[in-house]
Amino acid sequence: MEKKITVLPGDGIGPEVVASAVRVLQAIGKRYNHEFQLQYAEIGGAAIDQYNNPLPDKTIAMCEESDAILLGAVGGPKWDNNPPELRPEKGLLNIRKTFDLFSNLRPVKAFPSLLDASPLKREVAENVDLMIVRELTGGIYFGEKHRDLDQASDLNIYSRAEIERIVDNAFELARLRRGKLCSVDKANVLETSRLWREVVEEKKEQYPDVEVEHNLVDSVAMKLITNPGHYDVVVTDNMFGDILSDEASVITGSLGVLPSASIRSDNFGLYEPVHGSAPDIAGQGKANPAATILSVAMMLRYSFALLNEAAEIERAVSAVFEDGYFTADLAKGDSRALTTDEWTDRVIAEIDTNFVAD
Ligand code: NAD
Ligand code: IPM
Ligand code: MN
Repeated sequence: MEKKITVLPGDGIGPEVVASAVRVLQAIGKRYNHEFQLQYAEIGGAAIDQYNNPLPDKTIAMCEESDAILLGAVGGPKWDNNPPELRPEKGLLNIRKTFDLFSNLRPVKAFPSLLDASPLKREVAENVDLMIVRELTGGIYFGEKHRDLDQASDLNIYSRAEIERIVDNAFELARLRRGKLCSVDKANVLETSRLWREVVEEKKEQYPDVEVEHNLVDSVAMKLITNPGHYDVVVTDNMFGDILSDEASVITGSLGVLPSASIRSDNFGLYEPVHGSAPDIAGQGKANPAATILSVAMMLRYSFALLNEAAEIERAVSAVFEDGYFTADLAKGDSRALTTDEWTDRVIAEIDTNFVAD
């Protein structure tokens, strides 16, 4: 298979974790005889510095003529006081909107070998395997904004069609998993949430094999920590999904292991770790590349339907953890933390040894 991928390293640890993920992608390409052609472009702070635009037209054009996008992270203190249009985050929001990447899949799976790093009790965190389906191109992120000296507002707005397509997506995923869907809203207060709940109620007639529950977001914030094993697919709006996914990352032991896919109906997608640019550890070789490597696995699965290749990356990451190799965010006690590159070498070695027979 031949695929063209646009790589957007971005800012902070973005270029470090992307370099790791690209090495793993190439190792997989070599093993399974695929050609992944990579082209690099700027987004975020890096694009502001070079083009005075967080998402230059050139970057959009390159993404348009590729089969998928791999992104590191954007943002950092250097640009924090920029006007809204010239913030790195604006580039990320724009690329999601430009390509209509409305469905953000954020799987949260506990690795048995990381349970000691989780602040939760082993019996609470083990066996967690849930999928947050976050609406990504609507809601309060994209509603009209207003600002004057003493007043500010952000409009939270959703159309029925926007809710329907993400809810359909979540039902379909639930059907392929354990058949449970939890829809998260704030229907006791927000009109958008009342519409959301209405749509889920209507849609569930089409998916009689899926068990549906509605839950209020404040209560889910609590239950996600006290009983995360309860959840299978969680579908929610843009902002609730943002917050709940960072919260859910603590179950696994580190934000550094959570991947994501942002896709649209034709399976074109942007793949990025859930975490940000981590300016506090940037440039020190401390970043955990697992989230970005696992995002590449999601790319192979969702955009290219290369299921064995995706599973092989996930197996290799898991095996490296099981062998007791960790980056600084996960290393405990006496174990020496590996650098980003050393840890990536382990993953690649794991992939290579698995193929020793041929
Ligand atoms: P962050 O996710 O960058 O970092 C939060 C904490 O987690 C930090 O202590 C960081 O060191 C740690 N961390 C994150 N990823 C890690 C990894 N791979 N390995 C080890 N440790 C890791 O969140 P923040 O500090 O709130 O935000 C920093 C910047 O990133 C901001 O400018 C924010 O807007 C941006 N951001 C970007 C994205 C994105 O590009 N998708 C996502 C979130 C935040
Ligand atoms: C994420 C990030 C972004 C979001 C920011 C950087 C715009 O937090 O991808 O989770 O809020 O969606
Ligand atoms: Mn976030």
